[in-house]
Amino acid sequence: MAKTKSPKKAPAGKAKTAKTLDPVASTSRIDIGITSADRKEIAEGLARYLSDAFTLYLKTHNFHWNVTGPMFNSLHVMFETQYTEQWNALDEVAERTRALGFNTPGSYAEFIRLTSIREESGADGVPDWKGMVQQLVAGNEAVCRTAREVLKTADDAGDDPTVDLLTQRLQTHEKYAWMLRSLLE
Ligand SMILES: [Fe+2]
Repeated sequence: MAKTKSPKKAPAGKAKTAKTLDPVASTSRIDIGITSADRKEIAEGLARYLSDAFTLYLKTHNFHWNVTGPMFNSLHVMFETQYTEQWNALDEVAERTRALGFNTPGSYAEFIRLTSIREESGADGVPDWKGMVQQLVAGNEAVCRTAREVLKTADDAGDDPTVDLLTQRLQTHEKYAWMLRSLLE
């Protein structure tokens, strides 16, 4: 006759408690050849960059929805091309911040606090198409200025992946600023 095993009782008083990660201890364990102070400065810069980029993304999508006038079709399509590209790029920036050992902003409240770009309302009233294009030129230029600042910090710290990422973003946003600016000439 086969023996049946009786279920083992867990020893009393030995229940495991969930470990909470200490963010300071967690980041100080990272050893990728960039000092913790440099990683922190780059992460703070990336948070400001992400806030600018997210605010510009949202504004471009807002204008895609709310644009009117004789330029409707071309602007509706142009804005869609730009906000789609921008949306996909946000993820890379946020995940670079995580790879450096820091959390990334992810809420409207944080983005509004950190961005250098003024938000635009949608349903409560939007500018005409020219005003939209002017705002998007200014927004793309603002993103470029922030990217340049952070790129300098990353370059000084030898953080090539962040330099590479921001170089690509600069190429795109400078191109978008040029295309939009051309509509006003
Ligand atoms: Fe659409």
